[in-house]
Amino acid sequence: MSGAWLPGIARIAAAGPEAPVAPGPVPPRMAPSPRPPAFAPPASAASPAPSPTASAAGLLGPLVLLFAMPLLAGCDGWPESQPPPPPRPAPEGSVARGTAALRAALAPPGPPVDGSLRRLGADRYAIFCAACHGAAGRGDGVVVARGHPPIPPLPADPARSMAAIAENRGGSHPFADRLSPRERWAVARHVEALRPEAAP
Ligand code: HEC
Repeated sequence: MSGAWLPGIARIAAAGPEAPVAPGPVPPRMAPSPRPPAFAPPASAASPAPSPTASAAGLLGPLVLLFAMPLLAGCDGWPESQPPPPPRPAPEGSVARGTAALRAALAPPGPPVDGSLRRLGADRYAIFCAACHGAAGRGDGVVVARGHPPIPPLPADPARSMAAIAENRGGSHPFADRLSPRERWAVARHVEALRPEAAP
């Protein structure tokens, strides 16, 4: 082969994939070659019957490989990957995205207290607070029956509830990652309206 097909490849590549394949006579260089197949076994090498020593030598290779395998597995030879560079500190005076909106949503007096906020508050209080503070806020939740130290009774004014949810008070809070600002206000309004002494 002299590489005479290379210009042909280049031409196809230049024409692009959409180029129609031109029908035509088979070029002479692609005509079947009269040469004999390259890997035909020579007529003289008619395989003789394998001798016992030859077959033993043939087994040796796979055996050596088998015993070398654990050794090869021991050395992986890959270079250690570089540890990533430490994160750059945030620019001076920058605040995380959404901080201003979060502050605005948490600022008093909070969303208007209507029926939907009250329902939301009662629902979230039952989920997140009642286990300790009790359904009516008496501080008689199930954890107290199971040995938790006494819990002061509610109600509390909304600012204290908002702070209790946002910070860690009494080892149970914060719930800031589980309650959205609206939910926090709803719970705070619910806690504000609790009447433990009037509850059944
Ligand atoms: C694991 C139990 C537990 C859960 C759950 C819990 N609290 Fe408390 N909470 C306490 C304890 C204990 C105290 C008393 C902490 C103290 O006296 O230092 C407390 C105190 C408070 C106070 C009074 C804080 C103050 O300023 O004195 C408020 C308000 C409050 N919790 C609201 C809530 C709200 C709202 C929830 C639900 C979102 C909640 N708590 C869930 C255990 C709990």
